[in-house]
Amino acid sequence: MNTPETNMEWAEKYRPATLSEIVGNNKPVSDLRTWALHWQHGVPDRKAAILHGKPGIGKTTAAHALARDFDWEVIELNASDQRTAAAIRRVAGIASETASFGGGTRLIILDEADNIHGSSDRGGAQALAKIIKETSQPILLTANDLYGVSQSIKNLCTSITFRSLQSRSIAQLLRKICNNEEITCDPEALLKIAETAHGDVRSAINDLQAVAQGKSELHQDDVVVSSRDSRDTIFDVLKKIFRGKDIKEALNATYGIDETPEDLIQWIDENLPAQYRGDDIAGAMHALSRADIFLGRVHLRQNYRMWRYAGAMMTSGVTVSKSREYHGAQFMPPSKWRMLRSTRTSRQVRDGISEKIGVKCQTSQRYARLNILPFVKMLSADRDYAVRLAAWTNLDTAEIAYIIGSKKDTKKVKTIHQNAQDLVEDVAPEEVNVFDGFESRAKVAQGKPEKKDKPGKPMEPKKPEKKQDTKPEKKSQTSLFDF
Ligand SMILES: Nc1ncnc2c1ncn2[C@@H]1O[C@H](COP(=O)(O)OP(=O)(O)OP(=O)(O)O)[C@@H](O)[C@H]1O
Ligand SMILES: [Mg+2]
Repeated sequence: MNTPETNMEWAEKYRPATLSEIVGNNKPVSDLRTWALHWQHGVPDRKAAILHGKPGIGKTTAAHALARDFDWEVIELNASDQRTAAAIRRVAGIASETASFGGGTRLIILDEADNIHGSSDRGGAQALAKIIKETSQPILLTANDLYGVSQSIKNLCTSITFRSLQSRSIAQLLRKICNNEEITCDPEALLKIAETAHGDVRSAINDLQAVAQGKSELHQDDVVVSSRDSRDTIFDVLKKIFRGKDIKEALNATYGIDETPEDLIQWIDENLPAQYRGDDIAGAMHALSRADIFLGRVHLRQNYRMWRYAGAMMTSGVTVSKSREYHGAQFMPPSKWRMLRSTRTSRQVRDGISEKIGVKCQTSQRYARLNILPFVKMLSADRDYAVRLAAWTNLDTAEIAYIIGSKKDTKKVKTIHQNAQDLVEDVAPEEVNVFDGFESRAKVAQGKPEKKDKPGKPMEPKKPEKKQDTKPEKKSQTSLFDF
């Protein structure tokens, strides 16, 4: 049987439709109901509530179930929408001013409120705060991390905390699903799935579907512990390699973890100098270098059988290299990863800008990053250009700071951001003329080509170009290369 029903995700199929069907979280559900009841007597003081807690525990479900219980229309601004000030104003702003066609209440649901200024401009958070202040309709926000929600929004909201569910409650829900799917199940198997989910109902249901769909019986043996737990066990593997004596055990332990040999060798390499002493380090390094040669052959010849030898050298080889027992220092993740993590924010900002430029220029993020961004950064030494670019591509303050090579909280960045916002208030972002006056600048710059090496300085005197700003007959911009 292959009906749409059978293809459907169980987490969706069994999403509670009403508040009373939500498992656990009785207190937050009742607080939510109380908040909604206030709306029956006009617009209350707290016009927005924020439901927060870990993923997959019923926050979005509760928001929709509430609307159904109270017969409210729902307007949703979901995470995939661009959370720009303009989008929030467009969708939520209009909805918050008016009731539904039938005069009924409209519930505005905004998921992932902790992501608002992360994913777009800061104006998004400001626009939302303004909407909450002025709304005549109820607003529900959801968030995983309350710390990620801007303080101005938190101050305006009733905060409702959702908690992770007990394994036993999740197991009961899984049993109901099994009954409905006509699957006979071993209670231990369900408990195992529930425990592995660590309170996340969505992933428990997904795991159940993965192991049980299409079966008529579910046994404990069918349930393999999900890789969700495997990150923890890298430390067990390292313990077996550095502190154990059994070479087979050290090698076998690697089969249960979710690391490739390329990642594993980095863990071992990073920790070796702190775990062993003297000649033992040299011996183990020799084993690691052999492992590295095998990994190289995997790459060169695409011969994945070499992984086996690499694995044996990096685990058992290191285990037998010790001449005495070690109790060792704490294990650390590879420093290369730590370094990558610490530069992640700046990489994310860079990629975010490239994405935005890519959209405008109808090219990929990668192409924009490699071929356009360097020029745009150079051009942005001109403040006026930076303003237009920020308006055109809707850059937030972090992105502007990156483009002009400044810190995020500087006055210069804030002014450019503000001016860009003002510009799009007057004209739509598409109509912003990014290269207005560029031609004349290029001519001036031609006389002094070396200036471009100094990105901190404007490329030419400002005066003539200021005049051009006020001229009405601007040529409209169609692409980044339109100059
Ligand atoms: N308390 C619950 N009772 C019953 N089912 C639940 C509960 N919580 C989650 N679920 C199930 O998990 C699915 C996902 O839940 P939901 O979308 O409400 O999670 P969420 O808390 O909003 O997560 P996220 O933070 O990732 O958005 C639902 O479709 C439903 O099947
Ligand atoms: Mg959600």
